[in-house]
Amino acid sequence: MSLFRLDASIRVEGSHSRVIADVVEQEWRSVHPAEPVVRRHVGVDPIPATTWATAVFAGRTPEASRTDEQQAALALAATLTDELIAADALLFAVPLYNFGVSQHFKSWVDMVVTDPRMAAGTQPILVGKPAVLVTVRGGNYRAGTPREGWDHATGWMRRILADVWNLDLKVVETEFTLVGVNPALDRFTDLARQLREEAEEQARRHGRELGTAVAITPPKAA
Ligand SMILES: Cc1cc2nc3c(=O)[nH]c(=O)nc-3n(C[C@H](O)[C@H](O)[C@H](O)COP(=O)(O)O)c2cc1C
Repeated sequence: MSLFRLDASIRVEGSHSRVIADVVEQEWRSVHPAEPVVRRHVGVDPIPATTWATAVFAGRTPEASRTDEQQAALALAATLTDELIAADALLFAVPLYNFGVSQHFKSWVDMVVTDPRMAAGTQPILVGKPAVLVTVRGGNYRAGTPREGWDHATGWMRRILADVWNLDLKVVETEFTLVGVNPALDRFTDLARQLREEAEEQARRHGRELGTAVAITPPKAA
């Protein structure tokens, strides 16, 4: 059994998404003490910005005519996809930035989708693979809040991971991580603490499930 973990925070120190993903990983680790964890730190070691376009056009270029750069882009897409296929469980830790999805996570997804095995319309090869998405936000956009609906990241991530890739996805959401940093949010200190405790409990539960879950075998093509 192996775990693939992706972190998209642009920081290492003080990262809430990393700490909560650590909780998930520790629970998985308690079931698999000696098994490997393959890591991608896309927030601090991003996919280069031009690689996606190179990979897209490489896929439309006859193999014999591909440049070295195109071959390298396709090789990277294959490596990223291999990491997903090889892992028995997946863990993604992705913050909200500027009301949208982390550009680093998006670039990584875009690259994976250039691999022919992950292309739109192909039989999904990750069907039923157990996965946990940890996502954190500085603010709070829940129903009834002044900025309800301003989180444009979580819905998209669910769409890709659960609906397009067909992962067996659990999501741990933590809000108000900027409480204690932004003084304007000081009045939400108790609520932030409560939300954090709930998220950590969810992370423990989903981490344990991730450790024991078995991927549903994809149906064989006729
Ligand atoms: C450049 C930048 C933009 C951000 N934009 C938002 C935002 O639009 N909404 C929000 O709720 N939090 C926003 N945040 C706050 C982060 O979501 C929050 O600090 C989160 O905890 C970051 O993840 P990390 O703790 O794992 O590093 C932003 C943070 C940064 C650095």
